[in-house]
Amino acid sequence: MKRLRFAVLVSGRGSNLQALLNAREKGAIKGDVVVVLSDKKDAYALERARKEGIPAFSVEPKDFCEKKDFEGELLKIIEEHNVDYILLAGFMRVLSSFFIRGTSVPILNIHPSLLPSFTGLHAQRQTLEYGVRYSGCTVHFIDEGVDTGPIIQQAVVPVYADDTEESLSLRILQEEHKLYPEVVRLLCEDKIRYEDRKVIIIEEETENE
Ligand code: GRF
Repeated sequence: MKRLRFAVLVSGRGSNLQALLNAREKGAIKGDVVVVLSDKKDAYALERARKEGIPAFSVEPKDFCEKKDFEGELLKIIEEHNVDYILLAGFMRVLSSFFIRGTSVPILNIHPSLLPSFTGLHAQRQTLEYGVRYSGCTVHFIDEGVDTGPIIQQAVVPVYADDTEESLSLRILQEEHKLYPEVVRLLCEDKIRYEDRKVIIIEEETENE
């Protein structure tokens, strides 16, 4: 099977990007991150990519008159790298319809809550303020809403009475580092199908038979 090619979009420290690179290094993922793009030029994620010899670009919105020009530049670089999937990994911007309709490449995101609860920014803070017993993370396809696309896979963590935003974020992050590489592995093995909102993971279907 052909190795899949991934573009990863980041904004900050890039620990999820690192988890993907580590999984590839171990041979768990039969695909490659071929380009990393950040909307912040000082994102540590860019350094992580460059250390591995992966082309890494910063494209900052402030350098463009309009959002669609900024997004157009992202799309141009992504197209030049001929990717199969775009992975958002801590990319702290909502992509507009212009971007989403401007590419035929499916886009995935990882979000630090059990969607559809607590969409948008500060999901862990929203989780603690609301008060729930369990939280976690979700990998989902992107659609034109904010964190509303079809859910691919989720991982659950407990929420404790004495949790702070930091302690809960860390517990969720540890699961993110397993979940995203696992979903990318499934993509590389062509085990994910979806129709409308329903995502089917072929391995699970076979296990349940
Ligand atoms: C993660 O919690 C991710 O779910 C959220 O932003 C954080 C990014 O962390 N969207 P990192 O940059 O991958 O370390």
